[in-house]
Amino acid sequence: MRLQKYMAKCGIASRRKSEEIILEGRVKVNDIVVKELGMTINPKKDIVKVDNEIIKLEENKIYIMLNKPKGYVTTVKDKHSEKIVLDLINGVKERIYPVGRLDVDTTGLLLLTNDGDLAYKLTHPSYEIPKKYIALVKGIPNNKKLYKFRKGLKIDGRMTAEAYIKILKRNRDTSLLEISIHEGRNRQVRKMCKYIGHPVIQLERVAIGKLELGNLGIGEWRYLTSKEIEYLKKL
Ligand code: URA
Repeated sequence: MRLQKYMAKCGIASRRKSEEIILEGRVKVNDIVVKELGMTINPKKDIVKVDNEIIKLEENKIYIMLNKPKGYVTTVKDKHSEKIVLDLINGVKERIYPVGRLDVDTTGLLLLTNDGDLAYKLTHPSYEIPKKYIALVKGIPNNKKLYKFRKGLKIDGRMTAEAYIKILKRNRDTSLLEISIHEGRNRQVRKMCKYIGHPVIQLERVAIGKLELGNLGIGEWRYLTSKEIEYLKKL
Protein backbone atom coordinates (compact mmCIF):
# COMPACT_ATOMS: atom_id res chain seq x y z
CA MET A 1 0.00 0.00 0.00
CA ARG A 2 1.21 3.51 -0.80
CA LEU A 3 2.57 5.23 2.26
CA GLN A 4 0.21 8.21 2.03
CA LYS A 5 -2.80 5.90 1.63
CA TYR A 6 -1.74 3.94 4.71
CA MET A 7 -1.37 7.20 6.66
CA ALA A 8 -4.88 8.27 5.60
CA LYS A 9 -6.29 4.88 6.63
CA CYS A 10 -4.63 5.32 10.01
CA GLY A 11 -6.49 8.60 10.43
CA ILE A 12 -3.43 10.84 10.19
CA ALA A 13 -4.71 13.17 7.45
CA SER A 14 -6.13 13.03 3.95
CA ARG A 15 -3.91 11.41 1.33
CA ARG A 16 -2.90 14.74 -0.11
CA LYS A 17 -2.13 16.20 3.30
CA SER A 18 -0.22 13.02 4.19
CA GLU A 19 1.99 13.62 1.16
CA GLU A 20 2.87 17.03 2.57
CA ILE A 21 3.68 15.45 5.93
CA ILE A 22 6.01 13.00 4.14
CA LEU A 23 7.73 15.82 2.26
CA GLU A 24 8.21 17.65 5.55
CA GLY A 25 10.34 14.72 6.71
CA ARG A 26 8.03 13.77 9.57
CA VAL A 27 7.56 10.15 8.55
CA LYS A 28 9.78 7.17 9.26
CA VAL A 29 9.44 3.67 7.87
CA ASN A 30 11.33 1.13 9.96
CA ASP A 31 13.12 4.04 11.63
CA ILE A 32 14.38 5.56 8.39
CA VAL A 33 13.07 8.98 7.39
CA VAL A 34 11.18 8.93 4.10
CA LYS A 35 11.10 12.28 2.35
CA GLU A 36 10.02 11.21 -1.09
CA LEU A 37 6.63 10.22 -2.42
CA GLY A 38 5.88 6.93 -4.10
CA MET A 39 6.99 4.50 -1.41
CA THR A 40 4.85 1.45 -0.80
CA ILE A 41 4.73 -0.34 2.52
CA ASN A 42 3.45 -3.61 3.90
CA PRO A 43 1.00 -2.74 6.69
CA LYS A 44 1.59 -6.14 8.34
CA LYS A 45 5.37 -5.88 8.45
CA ASP A 46 6.55 -2.29 8.26
CA ILE A 47 6.56 0.06 11.21
CA VAL A 48 5.49 3.55 10.26
CA LYS A 49 6.02 6.49 12.57
CA VAL A 50 4.70 10.02 12.21
CA ASP A 51 6.43 12.57 14.43
CA ASN A 52 8.11 9.59 16.09
CA GLU A 53 4.84 7.90 17.05
CA ILE A 54 3.85 4.53 15.63
CA ILE A 55 0.61 4.74 13.64
CA LYS A 56 -1.95 1.96 13.38
CA LEU A 57 -4.88 1.20 11.12
CA GLU A 58 -8.06 2.68 12.50
CA GLU A 59 -10.83 0.08 12.58
CA ASN A 60 -13.64 2.26 13.79
CA LYS A 61 -14.75 4.65 11.08
CA ILE A 62 -16.01 8.01 12.24
CA TYR A 63 -17.99 10.55 10.21
CA ILE A 64 -18.70 13.96 11.65
CA MET A 65 -20.35 17.13 10.34
CA LEU A 66 -19.23 20.41 11.88
CA ASN A 67 -20.59 23.89 11.38
CA LYS A 68 -17.23 25.63 11.26
CA PRO A 69 -17.07 29.08 12.82
CA LYS A 70 -14.85 31.88 11.54
CA GLY A 71 -11.35 32.01 12.96
CA TYR A 72 -10.63 28.26 12.88
CA VAL A 73 -8.19 26.69 10.44
CA THR A 74 -8.82 23.31 8.81
CA THR A 75 -5.37 21.88 9.44
CA VAL A 76 -4.66 18.99 11.77
CA LYS A 77 -1.68 20.61 13.44
CA ASP A 78 -1.50 24.15 14.52
CA LYS A 79 1.70 25.70 13.19
CA HIS A 80 1.07 29.37 13.88
CA SER A 81 -0.83 29.09 17.17
CA GLU A 82 -4.10 29.44 15.34
CA LYS A 83 -7.29 27.78 16.50
CA ILE A 84 -7.93 24.49 14.70
CA VAL A 85 -11.26 22.87 13.93
CA LEU A 86 -10.32 19.74 15.87
CA ASP A 87 -10.43 21.86 19.05
CA LEU A 88 -14.20 21.96 18.55
CA ILE A 89 -14.68 18.18 18.50
CA ASN A 90 -14.75 16.87 22.05
CA GLY A 91 -15.11 13.32 23.23
CA VAL A 92 -13.95 11.54 20.07
CA LYS A 93 -10.95 9.33 20.74
CA GLU A 94 -10.26 8.27 17.15
CA ARG A 95 -7.88 10.39 15.10
CA ILE A 96 -9.97 12.26 12.59
CA TYR A 97 -9.16 14.98 10.11
CA PRO A 98 -11.03 17.52 7.99
CA VAL A 99 -12.16 16.51 4.51
CA GLY A 100 -10.82 19.23 2.23
CA ARG A 101 -10.53 22.76 3.53
CA LEU A 102 -12.46 25.85 4.27
CA ASP A 103 -10.73 29.22 4.59
CA VAL A 104 -10.24 30.56 8.06
CA ASP A 105 -12.98 33.15 7.44
CA THR A 106 -15.44 30.73 5.82
CA THR A 107 -18.15 29.19 7.97
CA GLY A 108 -20.34 26.17 7.45
CA LEU A 109 -20.33 22.52 6.56
CA LEU A 110 -17.09 20.70 7.17
CA LEU A 111 -16.82 16.92 7.29
CA LEU A 112 -14.26 15.19 9.49
CA THR A 113 -13.44 11.53 9.26
CA ASN A 114 -10.77 8.87 9.53
CA ASP A 115 -12.05 7.16 6.38
CA GLY A 116 -9.27 7.85 3.89
CA ASP A 117 -11.13 6.42 0.91
CA LEU A 118 -14.15 8.59 1.46
CA ALA A 119 -12.05 11.70 2.10
CA TYR A 120 -10.23 11.07 -1.16
CA LYS A 121 -13.44 10.67 -3.11
CA LEU A 122 -15.04 13.79 -1.67
CA THR A 123 -12.08 16.02 -2.43
CA HIS A 124 -10.95 14.68 -5.78
CA PRO A 125 -12.27 16.85 -8.64
CA SER A 126 -12.87 13.88 -10.93
CA TYR A 127 -15.83 12.80 -8.76
CA GLU A 128 -17.47 16.19 -9.43
CA ILE A 129 -19.32 16.35 -6.13
CA PRO A 130 -21.04 19.75 -5.93
CA LYS A 131 -20.38 21.95 -2.95
CA LYS A 132 -22.96 24.62 -2.30
CA TYR A 133 -22.18 28.03 -0.81
CA ILE A 134 -24.11 31.10 0.22
CA ALA A 135 -22.03 34.21 -0.44
CA LEU A 136 -22.66 37.79 0.53
CA VAL A 137 -20.83 39.90 -2.04
CA LYS A 138 -20.26 43.54 -2.80
CA GLY A 139 -22.63 44.93 -5.43
CA ILE A 140 -25.09 43.03 -7.60
CA PRO A 141 -23.74 41.01 -10.55
CA ASN A 142 -25.45 41.62 -13.89
CA ASN A 143 -26.49 38.86 -16.29
CA LYS A 144 -23.28 39.05 -18.30
CA LYS A 145 -21.19 38.45 -15.20
CA LEU A 146 -23.42 35.64 -14.01
CA TYR A 147 -23.07 34.01 -17.43
CA LYS A 148 -19.28 34.28 -17.29
CA PHE A 149 -19.25 32.81 -13.81
CA ARG A 150 -21.32 29.85 -15.00
CA LYS A 151 -19.33 29.19 -18.14
CA GLY A 152 -15.81 29.42 -16.69
CA LEU A 153 -13.22 31.99 -15.64
CA LYS A 154 -9.47 31.94 -15.81
CA ILE A 155 -8.28 31.56 -12.22
CA ASP A 156 -4.58 31.05 -11.50
CA GLY A 157 -3.98 30.42 -15.20
CA ARG A 158 -6.65 27.72 -15.58
CA MET A 159 -10.30 27.82 -16.59
CA THR A 160 -12.82 26.87 -13.96
CA ALA A 161 -15.38 24.18 -14.71
CA GLU A 162 -19.05 25.00 -15.21
CA ALA A 163 -20.56 26.43 -12.06
CA TYR A 164 -23.98 27.33 -10.71
CA ILE A 165 -24.82 30.83 -9.51
CA LYS A 166 -28.12 32.47 -8.62
CA ILE A 167 -29.01 35.74 -6.92
CA LEU A 168 -31.05 35.03 -3.80
CA LYS A 169 -31.41 38.61 -2.58
CA ARG A 170 -30.59 42.06 -3.90
CA ASN A 171 -29.70 44.65 -1.26
CA ARG A 172 -28.67 48.26 -1.89
CA ASP A 173 -24.88 47.72 -2.01
CA THR A 174 -24.60 43.96 -1.67
CA SER A 175 -26.25 40.78 -2.85
CA LEU A 176 -26.71 37.29 -1.52
CA LEU A 177 -25.73 34.55 -3.94
CA GLU A 178 -26.18 30.79 -4.08
CA ILE A 179 -23.13 29.23 -5.70
CA SER A 180 -22.29 25.64 -6.45
CA ILE A 181 -18.91 24.37 -7.66
CA HIS A 182 -17.36 20.93 -7.76
CA GLU A 183 -13.64 21.59 -8.06
CA GLY A 184 -12.50 22.91 -4.70
CA ARG A 185 -9.40 24.82 -5.72
CA ASN A 186 -7.79 27.06 -3.18
CA ARG A 187 -10.08 30.01 -2.30
CA GLN A 188 -11.98 29.29 -5.48
CA VAL A 189 -15.31 30.94 -4.68
CA ARG A 190 -13.60 34.07 -3.38
CA LYS A 191 -11.38 34.27 -6.46
CA MET A 192 -14.28 33.71 -8.87
CA CYS A 193 -16.42 36.37 -7.24
CA LYS A 194 -13.53 38.81 -7.21
CA TYR A 195 -12.86 38.07 -10.87
CA ILE A 196 -16.35 39.20 -11.88
CA GLY A 197 -15.93 42.32 -9.74
CA HIS A 198 -18.01 41.29 -6.73
CA PRO A 199 -15.68 40.39 -3.87
CA VAL A 200 -16.97 38.15 -1.11
CA ILE A 201 -17.87 39.72 2.22
CA GLN A 202 -19.09 36.53 3.88
CA LEU A 203 -18.99 32.92 2.78
CA GLU A 204 -20.77 29.89 4.15
CA ARG A 205 -20.79 26.33 2.81
CA VAL A 206 -24.25 24.87 3.19
CA ALA A 207 -24.10 21.53 1.39
CA ILE A 208 -21.81 18.85 0.02
CA GLY A 209 -23.79 16.85 -2.52
CA LYS A 210 -27.13 16.14 -0.84
CA LEU A 211 -25.64 16.46 2.60
CA GLU A 212 -26.96 19.64 4.17
CA LEU A 213 -25.88 21.71 7.14
CA GLY A 214 -29.53 22.16 8.14
CA ASN A 215 -29.99 23.83 11.48
CA LEU A 216 -26.71 22.78 13.08
CA GLY A 217 -25.54 25.82 15.07
CA ILE A 218 -22.20 27.52 14.46
CA GLY A 219 -19.46 25.63 16.29
CA GLU A 220 -21.72 22.58 16.81
CA TRP A 221 -21.07 19.11 15.42
CA ARG A 222 -22.88 15.81 15.06
CA TYR A 223 -22.23 12.31 13.77
CA LEU A 224 -23.58 11.61 10.30
CA THR A 225 -26.56 9.27 10.21
CA SER A 226 -26.13 5.84 8.66
CA LYS A 227 -28.25 7.03 5.72
CA GLU A 228 -25.91 9.96 5.14
CA ILE A 229 -22.84 7.71 5.31
CA GLU A 230 -24.41 5.28 2.88
CA TYR A 231 -25.20 8.15 0.51
CA LEU A 232 -21.61 9.44 0.58
CA LYS A 233 -20.18 5.98 -0.03
CA LYS A 234 -22.43 5.49 -3.04
CA LEU A 235 -21.46 8.77 -4.70
N1 URA B 1 -14.04 28.72 -1.78
C1 URA B 1 -13.44 29.70 -1.09
O1 URA B 1 -13.04 30.73 -1.64
N2 URA B 1 -13.25 29.51 0.22
C2 URA B 1 -13.67 28.44 0.89
O2 URA B 1 -13.47 28.34 2.10
C3 URA B 1 -14.31 27.42 0.15
C4 URA B 1 -14.48 27.59 -1.18
